[in-house]
Amino acid sequence: MTNTNEKIKIAVFVSGGGTNLQALIDAQQSKIIENGEITLVVSSSPDAYALQRAANAGIKTVTVSRKQCASQEEFEEGIKKALCENSIELIVLAGFMSILSENFTAAYPKRIINVHPSLIPSFCGKGFYGLRVHQAALDYGVKVTGATVHFVNEIPDGGEIIMQKAVSIEEGDTPEILQKRVMEQAEWQILPRAVEKVAADMIKQRKGN
Ligand code: GAR
Repeated sequence: MTNTNEKIKIAVFVSGGGTNLQALIDAQQSKIIENGEITLVVSSSPDAYALQRAANAGIKTVTVSRKQCASQEEFEEGIKKALCENSIELIVLAGFMSILSENFTAAYPKRIINVHPSLIPSFCGKGFYGLRVHQAALDYGVKVTGATVHFVNEIPDGGEIIMQKAVSIEEGDTPEILQKRVMEQAEWQILPRAVEKVAADMIKQRKGN
């Protein structure tokens, strides 16, 4: 039986620097996130600096490398096993650069959240990740971009939007400068708030049952 007073157990999936993971850890410490608790960090790369951030915060980590798995199925089974063993209820993709199949996303409906560094439906979908997103925004010449937090379904960056925040593009921006502004002004702000919102809704649902 689930203890109704327990916080929602969250796994954060990472692949690189982990600044969004850091924003989530900080939000937990400052009680912006109080209905959930990050109990596991899953990395697709053994070299991700995000693993160090998790270790510094005393959070358990597991690395499942796609390259070391013979197939997508084996990769996803490895992840699912870690999620089950740690009773994970909510997954947050925070700069996770490996593809998850429909088979995986369908197993966690409305239980996977992603942060994307543009205002969806602009500059999103297959091939749009990291600096490429900001390069595309600059190439197009838009004057406003931002970040989106959304649920993950079988369509890349196509799930229901939870929160968005706009950020101005300035004269002389490079993809790197723009990425930093979008992270500081949008991603690190809305990701923790969106996670808290979903966790609070899950707790409400649990109490209603
Ligand atoms: C972030 O900008 C995140 O939005 C983006 O990768 C970066 C990861 O940084 N994700 C995507 O592009 C997914 N399509 P971080 O490791 O420092 O959080």
